[in-house]
Amino acid sequence: MKGLVLAAGEGSRLRPFTYSRPKHLIPLLGKPMVQYPIEDLVSAGVVDIGVVVGYYGDLLREALGDGSRLGARLTYIAQERRLGIAHAVYRAVEEGFLDGPFVVYLGDNIVEEGVAGFAREFAENGSDVHILLSEVEDPGRFGVAVLDSGRVVRLVEKPKEPVSNLAVVGVYFFRDPELVERAFKDLKPSWRGEYEVTELVQWFVDRGYRVTYSKIKGWWKDVGTYEGLLDAVYMLLDRVESGVRGSVNGEVRGRVVVEEGAVVEGRVYGPAYIGRGALVSRGSVVEPYTSIEEGARVYSGRVARSLVMEYSELDLGRARLVDSVLGSRARVRNTRELHGDIRLVVSDNSLVEI
Ligand code: G1P
Repeated sequence: MKGLVLAAGEGSRLRPFTYSRPKHLIPLLGKPMVQYPIEDLVSAGVVDIGVVVGYYGDLLREALGDGSRLGARLTYIAQERRLGIAHAVYRAVEEGFLDGPFVVYLGDNIVEEGVAGFAREFAENGSDVHILLSEVEDPGRFGVAVLDSGRVVRLVEKPKEPVSNLAVVGVYFFRDPELVERAFKDLKPSWRGEYEVTELVQWFVDRGYRVTYSKIKGWWKDVGTYEGLLDAVYMLLDRVESGVRGSVNGEVRGRVVVEEGAVVEGRVYGPAYIGRGALVSRGSVVEPYTSIEEGARVYSGRVARSLVMEYSELDLGRARLVDSVLGSRARVRNTRELHGDIRLVVSDNSLVEI
């Protein structure tokens, strides 16, 4: 089976971070977001992977290369115009990349239990399309599936009326690329101007093809907004295993990763992640559910439940940064002996003096 990872989107809901990079390259615990789906596919035995790129596609190509570092063989497919997920899949058909069963994995989805089990199920069940469903509290944000006696009867994209609380996860298995091509050619763009994947699957349902599903058990995250980014960090930290590869002269408590070249002189309370070459200076504290990415530096103050991207610098004095997201090479300085909690969303290369 081949894989198709979709990473062409603009990530408009993740601005300002996506002004300077595709969202798929936002670091989460030392890896760009898109690496999670790729690694998941590889561990499911899917190594021949097409990556559909568009927005900042050159940065993605540069970051992922030929994929050999991840045990994959990557082929890049350009989607020049952002016409939706079904169109991205069609682009791969058009380029002749798909020649048999394949799995589409949205590049901003993280599935805790991984897809290996579902890939096996699809290999054995003989269905034409296999989708994954997850119960959610806010179905209006997703595509949802309506079931009747255990069968998928209808898919609705971003339902306004509550028709189902079963969100369609961003992982889709298809048996036959030729059928996908036929289905795509029958589609019309939706109200948001996109060829929707839900309508692509609906085409199969309407024509009596076999569309099966699995309900996922663990957590699943679609990282579309910066609250979503923080949620993803919290979830990833929840299952992180301790590992100290850098130097610790301060204190590390709980489940903490300290990567190679990182220096901890202050205190780190897990679950927390301290990336390669990062610094936690004496007197500063990294509190639970925080990821300090590669080369970032905490000179003073406290950080809690936050994502601090690569090479950012925090000099917070007596202040405590909470529930915040800092882009790469951002600097935050406390110039007035400010106390208490602050919450910031700071884009790449910015300077904030408080
Ligand atoms: C897309 C799909 C939606 C699916 C979701 C999963 O939504 O259109 O059906 O439930 O991904 O991540 P989008 O991220 O384009 O809003």
